[in-house]
Amino acid sequence: MIVIDKSKCVRCGACMRDCIVHVLTKGEDGYPAFRKEDERFCLNCQHCLAVCAHGAVTCNDVGFGETLDVEQIPDGRAEAALLRQRRSTRQWRDDPIPEEVWTRLVDTLAWMPTGCNDHRLHFTIVRGREKMDWYRREVARTLQKLVRTRIPQILFPKFRRYMAEIMRGDDVVFRNAPCMIVASTPKKAPCREADPWIALSYFDLLAQANGLGTCWSGFGVHAFKGMRGIRKALNMPRGYEVGAVLLFGVPAVEYARVPHPRPMSVEVQ
Ligand SMILES: Cc1cc2nc3c(=O)[nH]c(=O)nc-3n(C[C@H](O)[C@H](O)[C@H](O)COP(=O)(O)O)c2cc1C
Repeated sequence: MIVIDKSKCVRCGACMRDCIVHVLTKGEDGYPAFRKEDERFCLNCQHCLAVCAHGAVTCNDVGFGETLDVEQIPDGRAEAALLRQRRSTRQWRDDPIPEEVWTRLVDTLAWMPTGCNDHRLHFTIVRGREKMDWYRREVARTLQKLVRTRIPQILFPKFRRYMAEIMRGDDVVFRNAPCMIVASTPKKAPCREADPWIALSYFDLLAQANGLGTCWSGFGVHAFKGMRGIRKALNMPRGYEVGAVLLFGVPAVEYARVPHPRPMSVEVQ
């Protein structure tokens, strides 16, 4: 339900123009009118609310009072430097993550874009080495049992190096990280493939911009999909599946230089 406060509305039409599903149309008096019959199409994206400079819009009970002030964002140069300089971290310090950074990281998750603005994404955050060690032990136990059957060596000969590391007790799945965030979605979410990766990509950049190290765990995704015990420990809502896993913590490595990667193939048409 979108409510327009006519005492504040200047009839500029900005809310109507920015409504992707056209639930706001011009009424006979020139004020935006909410089409009740089309309410089901509203994505609750709050563009109508955000674009209104006069505080005239209330979108699904959220009004001007709950919106945030627009702040300075990093300029293009700083953002490009962040993208070039973010590295995967696999060496960690046991220093605690400052509370202020925790709060910023966790609170910002609500702003992650999702297909159809589906806010049913679920995040499980495992905070601290002790809790991570439980996942490490469970995964190592299962993987070592599996490697001992010698079946993985036949099925996945390319991964033999990892199998040797697993048998040696190396943590190839969680890379000894002190923390992890797992993003999961309902199995029938409209963009279940993309949403978790996008959300954690943003989290990745934000974490690195706040001085933390991060590392994707593709192996972690497979581990959660294949191992019921650790999956259950994530406490995901019923009907959810794991989408993406990102490890993070205070890094114990600093990079003096920016690598020079092989260019990706780009075609501009
Ligand atoms: C989808 C995806 C899955 C990944 N899975 C793992 C993983 O399981 N373990 C790991 O150590 N690194 C993993 N990585 C990190 C890549 O190895 C790393 O991004 C790449 O080597 C480039 O290094 P950089 O991130 O420092 O630039 C993954 C990265 C991506 C994008």
